[in-house]
Amino acid sequence: MQSLAGKRCFITGGSRGLGLAIARLFAAQGAGCTLIGRNEDTLAKAADTLDTQGDLQRHCVSAFDVSTPDGWEKLVVSTKNQVCDILVNAAGVSQNSFIFKTEKHDVNEIIATNLTGTIWGCKYIIPKMMKQKSGCIINVASLLATHRGKGASVYAASKAGIVGLTRSLAWEVGRFGIRANVLLPGYIKTDMTKDMDQNGELSALIPLGRLGLAREVADAALFLAQNPYAHNCVLNIDGGLSAT
Ligand SMILES: NC(=O)c1ccc[n+]([C@@H]2O[C@H](COP(=O)([O-])OP(=O)(O)OC[C@H]3O[C@@H](n4cnc5c(N)ncnc54)[C@H](OP(=O)(O)O)[C@@H]3O)[C@@H](O)[C@H]2O)c1
Repeated sequence: MQSLAGKRCFITGGSRGLGLAIARLFAAQGAGCTLIGRNEDTLAKAADTLDTQGDLQRHCVSAFDVSTPDGWEKLVVSTKNQVCDILVNAAGVSQNSFIFKTEKHDVNEIIATNLTGTIWGCKYIIPKMMKQKSGCIINVASLLATHRGKGASVYAASKAGIVGLTRSLAWEVGRFGIRANVLLPGYIKTDMTKDMDQNGELSALIPLGRLGLAREVADAALFLAQNPYAHNCVLNIDGGLSAT
C-alpha cells in the first residue's frame, strides 16, 4: 500500500463534515492538507484540528467558491511549485424539496457546487498531476447517484454526473499514472443530515440500523488513496442501504 507520509492533499469541503474527517485521517497518516472551503476563519479552525506531526507549516487553507473557475485558477498559480498528490472533491450542498418546488437559484447552486465544482477541480488539478506523472482523485458522490431519494432529484442528478465524470476520467488519465475513484456514501452524520433522523425513521430503513460516521467514510477514502490498483472504483459506503 502507498504511504501518505509527505503527500500533499487538496481537499474541498475541508471545513467540516466528510472533507474534514478525510483531512484528519490523511493528516494522521503524515499527509499535508490544503483545506478548501468558502470561509477562511472556519477553514483555519478546521486546520488547527489536524495532526501536524511537529511541522506547523504542514497544513494550509485556501478560501474560495469551488463552483466558479476563478478560485481554482488562483490556487493553481499560488501552488505552481507545489505538487498535488491527492485531490478530494467533497464540497457539496444538499436539497430537500420536490423538483416543482425547488427554486431556480437552488437548482443552479446544487449543480454548480456539486457537479461543476468537481469538474473544475479535476480540470485544474489534473495538469499538475500529469506533470508529476502521478496522482489520485477521490470524488465524493452519493448513494443517491444510483438509488432513489425523496426531495433530492437535482442533488441526485449532480451526483450521478460525478459518477459519469469519474468513469471517463479513469479512462482518460490512467495512462498518466493518475487514479480516479468515486465514493457513494449513504446517510452519514454531519451538518448536512442533522435534521434527517430525528424520529429514527431513516435509521430504520438502513440494514445496519444507523447513519454512518464521517470517520467511516474517511476510512474508505484512505483505502482509495493507498491502494495503487484502485482505479475507477465506485465504492458504496452506506450501511447496506444500497441493497434495499
Ligand atoms: N452527509 C451525508 O450523509 C452525505 C451522503 C452522501 C454524500 N455526501 C456528500 O459528501 C460531501 C460532504 O458532505 P457533508 O455531509 O460533509 O456536508 P457538510 O457538513 O454540509 O459540509 C459541506 C462542505 O462543503 C463546503 N462547500 C459547500 N459549498 C461550497 C462551495 N460553493 N465552495 C466551496 N466549498 C463549499 C462547505 O464549506 P463552507 O460552507 O465552509 O464553504 C463544507 O466544507 C458533499 O458533497 C455531500 O453531497 C454527504
